Amino acid sequence: MNIILLGAPGAGKGTQGNILSEKFRIPQISTGDILRANVRSKTQLGLKAKEYMDKGALVPDDIVVGMVVDRINEEDAKSGFILDGFPRNINQAEVLEKTLTSMGKSIGSVIGIEVDRKELVRRLSGRRVCRKCGASYHTIFNPPLNIGMCDKCGSEIYQRDDDKEETIEARLKVYEQETFPLVEYYSRKGLYRAVDGKGSVDQITMTIVGAIEGSDNPKVS
Ligand code: AP5
Ligand code: MG
Repeated sequence: MNIILLGAPGAGKGTQGNILSEKFRIPQISTGDILRANVRSKTQLGLKAKEYMDKGALVPDDIVVGMVVDRINEEDAKSGFILDGFPRNINQAEVLEKTLTSMGKSIGSVIGIEVDRKELVRRLSGRRVCRKCGASYHTIFNPPLNIGMCDKCGSEIYQRDDDKEETIEARLKVYEQETFPLVEYYSRKGLYRAVDGKGSVDQITMTIVGAIEGSDNPKVS
């Protein structure tokens, strides 16, 4: 069960990817999370990636693609994976397809979480994330029980550097120009399933599971 979650910044890829990962017991592979972990540990890759992420631009393909290919090859991804934030342009999609073909695998479905621009900005500007466990909150839609503190692990929650107003605008523009063409790319291959990303998190999960079952027939635990 190899799934791609496609959608603009703030559409809910991380939120839904996390739930689906537990439900289907397959890893969520978020390129954004892997890059941010590298930025935190100040690895060479992280230092280079940060320059692009702070501007809201895409990190160059040669950095990201290698990272994803290595992750897909890990043991826990053998029976499936959920890609969150990858591919993000046509080149990445083509490399992914070639890589999977060489491994005797393919993509089962591409779930496009669709949310209007106004809502995306509201979600991103209010998002707060736990520094330690990565749990995601929202100042209005999903506030933590104690201000500034993660409900799950008690660590500090913070605002992502790229969730500042100017960077949000840049990210949305990059999405429209570079990532949105993937909707047509995967529609032509018959893999794209559009899901309305507005509504409650649970409701959206149910719609996504229905879309996956329709295209892939997986067994849900
Ligand atoms: P990445 O981390 O992938 O960020 P993104 O695509 O901009 O998406 P987000 O993580 O911001 O949003 P999301 O869809 O996960 O939404 P979430 O569930 O958190 O990438 C960051 C950067 O890394 C990029 O700009 C780029 O520089 C680089 N990068 C990453 N991948 C790359 C690649 N492949 N190639 C090149 N560069 C790459 O939800 C958002 C908020 O809304 C949360 O507060 C949440 O609580 C709330 N929310 C979620 N669902 C709902 C709901 N149903 N109702 C109300 N609120 C909701
Ligand atoms: Mg995310």
